[in-house]
Amino acid sequence: MTFEFEKHISVMRNEIVENIKDNFSTKDLIIGADLTFGGGGHVFSILEELPNTYVYGVDQDPDAIENGKKKIESSPYKEQIELIYSNFVNFPKIFSDLKKHEGLDFITLDLGVSSHQFDKFERGFSYREDGPLDMRMNYKDDEVLTASDIVNTFEEEDLANLIFKYGEERLSRRIAKNIVEKRAEKPFLTTKELEETVFLSYPARQRHKRPHPATRTFQALRIAVNRELDVVSDVIPLLYPLLNDGGIIQIISFHSLEDRIVKWSFKDAAKEDDQLKILTKKPVLPTQTEILNNPRARSAKLRVIKKITS
Ligand SMILES: C[S@@+](CC[C@H](N)C(=O)[O-])C[C@H]1O[C@@H](n2cnc3c(N)ncnc32)[C@H](O)[C@@H]1O
Repeated sequence: MTFEFEKHISVMRNEIVENIKDNFSTKDLIIGADLTFGGGGHVFSILEELPNTYVYGVDQDPDAIENGKKKIESSPYKEQIELIYSNFVNFPKIFSDLKKHEGLDFITLDLGVSSHQFDKFERGFSYREDGPLDMRMNYKDDEVLTASDIVNTFEEEDLANLIFKYGEERLSRRIAKNIVEKRAEKPFLTTKELEETVFLSYPARQRHKRPHPATRTFQALRIAVNRELDVVSDVIPLLYPLLNDGGIIQIISFHSLEDRIVKWSFKDAAKEDDQLKILTKKPVLPTQTEILNNPRARSAKLRVIKKITS
């Protein structure tokens, strides 16, 4: 049986697996966590190459968890994966409450959305086809504001600041002004409605350039809806105490705002704790071959930090 999640090609799969192999290939039992389980691509690759591994797999997307359960059931690794439906910011507490293992040899994060989330128009992440303006990774959590809640209720200035800060969009003020004008006629409910307003906010000669005019505004809303930057900066410091001696944290990010957080969190931690050593002075980038095969990988950056043996 093929699951929709198999459409997602894992980014920097080899690098993620090799880092674990380099550090732990002689260990009898490797314990790790993938805090962004998604389609399970990284987890299954790790298990295939290092079958003596036990992994906690975390995702806040109900679809990822449903698909993951089925995939795990029909795999040889049923006893070796514990799937956890939660925001990863809660993982450190969940892990210590479970009291199953003392610590972790590796922790992996592959941030952002999966192809499954992006390609499923009902989820509202994409403007390529019409869908509800939602963008919640955890669409069962009614306490999370959707993208349409934000677009229809935020003050013009707050909207402009959000689009500027999270989308690095130069035309944020004009876009926010046009959104506010348009929503006075009728609230925004779908992705295409928003795409059209953003498109028309661009000067005519720039509308057909790449990236599409709506790209930055959609990125900004997605980051705001899922509080993507906050949860990353909140969780990283909570992960170091979970590491076994020799344990590694590897994080793949997809845009400069996220990468900056990872870079500075690692730097600060290494400065304060001489047991923590950054293994990637510069971020590791995907190979040209990978980018050719999977254009989604083009903006990926991988950073790794290690807890050295005391
Ligand atoms: C890029 S995909 C991961 C793909 C996965 N590495 C693979 O190879 O199949 C990112 C996944 O992380 C999940 N995710 C993102 N932020 C999260 C958070 N704060 N808490 C839990 N899951 C999160 C998303 O729902 C998505 O399924």
